[in-house]
Amino acid sequence: MPVLAAIKKQFAREKPFAGMTIGMALHVEAKTANLVIALAAGGAEVHITGCNPLSTQDDVADALNGVKGVHCYAKRACSVKEYYIAIEKVLKASPVITIDDGMDLIHYLHTKRRDLLPPIIGGCEETTTGIHRLRAMAAEGKLEFPVIAVNDTPMKRYFDNVHGTGESALSSIMITTNTLIAGKYIVIAGYGFCGRGLARKAHGLGAKIIVTEIDPRRALEAHMDGFLVMPMEQAAEIGDIFITTTGNTSVITARHFKKLKDGAILSNAGHFNVEIDMTVLAKHADKVIQREGIETFIINGKSIHVLAEGRLVNLATPKGMGHPIEVMDLSFALQALCARYIAYNGKSLAAGVYDVPQEIDEEVAHLKLASLNLSIDKLTEKQKSYLCSWDIGT
Ligand SMILES: NC(=O)c1ccc[n+]([C@@H]2O[C@H](COP(=O)([O-])OP(=O)(O)OC[C@H]3O[C@@H](n4cnc5c(N)ncnc54)[C@H](O)[C@@H]3O)[C@@H](O)[C@H]2O)c1
Repeated sequence: MPVLAAIKKQFAREKPFAGMTIGMALHVEAKTANLVIALAAGGAEVHITGCNPLSTQDDVADALNGVKGVHCYAKRACSVKEYYIAIEKVLKASPVITIDDGMDLIHYLHTKRRDLLPPIIGGCEETTTGIHRLRAMAAEGKLEFPVIAVNDTPMKRYFDNVHGTGESALSSIMITTNTLIAGKYIVIAGYGFCGRGLARKAHGLGAKIIVTEIDPRRALEAHMDGFLVMPMEQAAEIGDIFITTTGNTSVITARHFKKLKDGAILSNAGHFNVEIDMTVLAKHADKVIQREGIETFIINGKSIHVLAEGRLVNLATPKGMGHPIEVMDLSFALQALCARYIAYNGKSLAAGVYDVPQEIDEEVAHLKLASLNLSIDKLTEKQKSYLCSWDIGT
């Protein structure tokens, strides 16, 4: 992770977090550990737990507990109760900065531990779903500190969501099921940043792509990118493999289950396990067969396979490794620099959701290009002034 390594070096010199505690709820896996270590190098005491009961790598969690100034409470396959006990432990350390992936930490803080709000100077949020929740909270005037929407910046969305989710979700599906992608009908629900990446990469592997959408512009974009577009009711009858990535709820539900083909594979790449209606599926099943990372529901003699209990398929299957390291180098470089921005500026910002400052986005891009030994052109003075002029004498 050369970009994060360069930032870690800066942090070690500068100690932007000296005397500060940072509370985190992120997928606890190897790449995340590097972010934690960079923050600790910057002088922070870090308390971290997972942001999904199935995504923790226990060896990484153990290793983190061996790092000076770091406390990790995550455990793979923990119960929902244990998940929130771990969140409580992070907050009890009285962090001044929060780093969330999905907003569970901030939600708990604002609803269950309001007494711990006063020391907080700001936070960072990693994913689309967390930002939806934060904006909803801010709109109701309920968000009590500034939070940077790390997900929404180009250096995150264009790489993490598109390429990271695209590659890691597909590789996790392939390794868990040992199924061939080529020639299959793959239904992608949601043609956002993640959905586009998934569609393009699955198409590249020879799949026939069907997109379902609720936004007419994105549906049209999928159509013009060469994919079939139709409602889920129709797609349910055709699809071999389904991947939901809408950030919404009940995308595949009772009326769709009835129409699925025998052997259909259902998976979710959206943040929460609510896109595939698992409760309904379990209720209608005559039998459920459990295997590592796959549950097979037998309904009227038909087998429907669900991966990772409908949780993030790229992280929650036993062999799911999350996004490739090159992608997380960018996402976590952004997180590290945004945390530093909060450390220096948080106290002067009003409560609300903030964009990643453009200079941070550009710095990460420059560091990545440098790590790849790639150089680009620079604007000349003449070009700069041309781009800022309105009277250009045409
Ligand atoms: N798996 C991962 O590692 C990973 C990485 C990044 C983001 N995410 C998560 O993936 C989800 C999507 O993120 P994104 O950045 O692509 O969001 P996005 O907002 O860019 O795209 C979501 C798309 O889903 C569409 N949609 C909403 N409801 C729908 C429905 N009922 N049926 C069909 N389409 C629907 C929206 O119109 C939108 O185009 C979020 O939950 C996000 O947190 C997961």
